[in-house]
Amino acid sequence: VHVVQTVSWSPDGRAVRIVDQRRLPGEFAECELRTVRDVCDAIRTLAVRGAPAIGVAAAMGLAASLLPFAGEPVHRLRDRLREHAEAIRASRPTAVNLPRAIDRLLAAAEPAGDSAELLEALRREADAVRDEDRAMCERIGAHGAALIAHGARVLTHCNAGALATAGIGTALAPVYVAARAGRQVHVFAGETRPLLQGSRLTAWELTRAGIPVTVLADGAAAALLRTGTVDVVLVGADRIAANGDVANKIGTYALALASRHHGVPFYVAAPTSTLDPCTTAGDQIPIEHRPAGELLEPFGTANAAAFNPAFDVTPAALITGYITDRGLFVDPARLFASLTATSESLA
Ligand code: MRU
Repeated sequence: VHVVQTVSWSPDGRAVRIVDQRRLPGEFAECELRTVRDVCDAIRTLAVRGAPAIGVAAAMGLAASLLPFAGEPVHRLRDRLREHAEAIRASRPTAVNLPRAIDRLLAAAEPAGDSAELLEALRREADAVRDEDRAMCERIGAHGAALIAHGARVLTHCNAGALATAGIGTALAPVYVAARAGRQVHVFAGETRPLLQGSRLTAWELTRAGIPVTVLADGAAAALLRTGTVDVVLVGADRIAANGDVANKIGTYALALASRHHGVPFYVAAPTSTLDPCTTAGDQIPIEHRPAGELLEPFGTANAAAFNPAFDVTPAALITGYITDRGLFVDPARLFASLTATSESLA
């Protein structure tokens, strides 16, 4: 199963190369992010998107954005680092992977004695953010594959696949691992209004990987669940609050409600970098509201106001379980306890 490389270093090592997700599926194009402005614009316009990929692009982008200033004295470079870090941090509010990645780089730069050391520390930490993300995707896949029997029919929303991470995705990771093991899997992908991450991105990457996919309008999900043709619902997360509430792409909450009504198990897959122990409950998660034009302009301009939150919150009570790199959890308290647990106690 071949998955796309969403974020990488450019050949000269001085820029972040990303798959430009604004242009899929019509065109496979990559672009390079060199400046802090490039990085912020790419995140804000969803050229790179999905919580883990945003964190990885932010980390690598922050490191790359300082390279042209290598000749400056270290105190000047530190001022610049803080300035770039805060600009990138502010580019999107909901996915906690973004501030977490930025904070990791700031901490890694602390001990540096000169400019060369500082830039080296940033690059090393950015590589670690990327490599850890890739490894966490694999472990999510391994833990979640137990839920995917031969012939399974999986419903997902938005894109929580390779395009949303540095690896094989989160919600789609169990699908890829099951497919690698030779199991047949069929994915139903909600199209995901208004920016169509489901029909544009999830359908594209699954088809490319040879996994059959059926796209449905978001409004068709309840009707599909009612027919009994979905075995399991798998979605990703942008932030998981300490009580287990989950912020994810708008429409996830409606899917969880319909799944509960029809008795279909509803799982959230996420790396531990998406767990936010500092946010006590879902209603405290900052929700991004996006421009009205995304809703009103596709077919000429509708003369109306728009309600366009990019994410919603699904209460923990509607979630059957959480698939993370640390294992499969039913109880949110145990999920958060896993953050501090040793690997022996998890085994
Ligand atoms: O607005 P997006 O496309 O960045 O939203 C993405 C999602 O909601 C994903 O489900 C989430 O980030 C998890 S991606 C592994």
